[in-house]
Amino acid sequence: MAELGAENGSKFIFGGWDGAELAAKFGTPLYVYSEEAIRSRCREARETFMERWDDSLAVYAGKAFLTTAMCKIVASEGLGLDVVSGGELHTAMEAGFPMERVFFHGNGKTDEELRLAVEAGVGRIVADGPSELARIEAASRLSGKRTAVLMRVTPGVDADTHKYIQTGHTGSKFGFPLSEGVLADEVGRYRDAEFLDLKGFHFHIGSQIFENKSHVMSVKILVKTMAELARSQGFQTRELNMGGGFGVEFDPRKKSPSLASFTDPMMETLTAVCREEGIPVPGTFIEPGRWIVSEAGATLYTVQEVKKTGGITYAAVDGGMTDNPRPALYGAKYHAHFPGKMDIPRSETVTIAGKCCESGDIIIENLKSPPLERGDLVAVLNTGAYTFSMASNYNRLPRPAAVLVSPGRADVIAERQTWDDMVRWDRVPGHLR
Ligand SMILES: Cc1ncc(COP(=O)(O)O)c(C=O)c1O
Repeated sequence: MAELGAENGSKFIFGGWDGAELAAKFGTPLYVYSEEAIRSRCREARETFMERWDDSLAVYAGKAFLTTAMCKIVASEGLGLDVVSGGELHTAMEAGFPMERVFFHGNGKTDEELRLAVEAGVGRIVADGPSELARIEAASRLSGKRTAVLMRVTPGVDADTHKYIQTGHTGSKFGFPLSEGVLADEVGRYRDAEFLDLKGFHFHIGSQIFENKSHVMSVKILVKTMAELARSQGFQTRELNMGGGFGVEFDPRKKSPSLASFTDPMMETLTAVCREEGIPVPGTFIEPGRWIVSEAGATLYTVQEVKKTGGITYAAVDGGMTDNPRPALYGAKYHAHFPGKMDIPRSETVTIAGKCCESGDIIIENLKSPPLERGDLVAVLNTGAYTFSMASNYNRLPRPAAVLVSPGRADVIAERQTWDDMVRWDRVPGHLR
């Protein structure tokens, strides 16, 4: 794996580059992605999941970070791609991503998105509820194509994570509830549909999960459901998609769990319970997002002002909740390095503040740092997932550029927005001109 956050004297080295050099070359704030780190996680997914278990595919969850260049990397590594909107699907199409490896997910899909997905010939559409199944069928009939479908189910498992990123609990907005008999009715209705190929089920119980017990429990619940459907309707589940959610440590002193620490017990449970129930083991998918890309990204900022007030030392930087809403949204904790000052003892305690007009726009609270001054660089680690993809233009702040680095190469994969971009979509009605 490329050096991530390594130290070389005063320098902060990331993906083979000196952070200060990247800041000088591309400006700040700047999202930096290490190509080798992304590829090494894709390789691990291939080796520990796809090559270990028959008929399996790891599908990268594009919501974590998606650009056309990212699609190209994922495609070349042989993984699938999970998209959740017309915009993400369009990105995959622009990148020439093999459509048969694309999974179209999400709740609240519009007819326009469903039409696009059907016509593009995506590998699977994952239906989020009964009326959506009907609409997928209608879109497929209209275009004369048979669409392969998985039904997303809510296994009723409370994953041990922030409630905003739990998705598998009873009452979740996602999926078909298992407990209310809806699933069996819908399977009965569509199992022999002319334009739907009902292949099986999907669950995703949440994000940032560190122990495998909720995933394993969900597998057991799903296999029991599959067995019940086999007994009651003779329905054979051919595929099970077990979602993502594999956790990543934000404290650089801790090591993130391996993918195999989740997938091995999940697959062993799947195999054992299918055997007990006397049903065939289905083909399987997993959908890691954060686990693939989080540690591969860092964000570089420049300190604009250092201020001491009420016993707190603030270092205000040139970005914030617009380029990384996660601390404000769910109290996400980050760690940072200080390029150019890596060899200076961290004798101070500083709070890294974003520049948005919200007191909650704090990127890191109470971080040990060297003495800081205006112009210093801050490199926030582990910002590869759910930052660029969740960025906004609050306060009309342009979105930073994203660069993809490897030793000897640094390429812009998303241009920095400009102040002109901030007014690009504005229109002034005639009476105000
Ligand atoms: C259906 C689905 N699959 C996969 C993921 C990826 O989750 P993570 O990035 O935690 O692996 C998500 C995240 O929201 C999701 O909704």
